[in-house]
Amino acid sequence: MNGFLTAMRNTVEDLYGHVHRVGRLSVALGEVLGLGETQLRNLATAGVFHDVGKIHIDPAILSKPGPLAGHEVTEIRKHPELGYAMAVDHLDPEVALTILHHHERWDGGGYPHGLTGEEIPRLARVVLVADAFDAITSERSYQPAMPVDYAIAEIVSCSGSQFDPEVVEALLVLASRDFSDVFGSAELF
Ligand SMILES: [Fe+2]
Repeated sequence: MNGFLTAMRNTVEDLYGHVHRVGRLSVALGEVLGLGETQLRNLATAGVFHDVGKIHIDPAILSKPGPLAGHEVTEIRKHPELGYAMAVDHLDPEVALTILHHHERWDGGGYPHGLTGEEIPRLARVVLVADAFDAITSERSYQPAMPVDYAIAEIVSCSGSQFDPEVVEALLVLASRDFSDVFGSAELF
């Protein structure tokens, strides 16, 4: 899987930084949720590889500013299944399933399978929140980086619709501390 990491570094600007931040935040959320050591290790790996399928998506679509056309959305939405196919023979089955389901929504409106609530693997529900937090607080081709407080308010407003309420609670616990506990003083990739 190391070759895939290099590929992520070379594909879209900041994908490599994004997946590492998501990995760290996922583990921090998992710790608040009281997950065991094996699941925390799987979360770290799943965080880093959750978007690995994007290396097979056209970079022009991934970095397109502004709204995407229908066929481009369809294309991007293939990345969880592409990532699963890449991971399934190499990584723990729980990691592969987390990659597959990291865009499922708590209310069933996500993809690829439209799973609902606790049907969604728990680690995938954690990665979804970490992914959203990092997407909102990072600069993207289609939006500026928004402040942490804004990201938290957005995520709280989607608790129980997009996100597992228990994971949102864990994010609030982290927010009541200091995010430097999560990311340390090290440069954020
Ligand atoms: Fe993704």
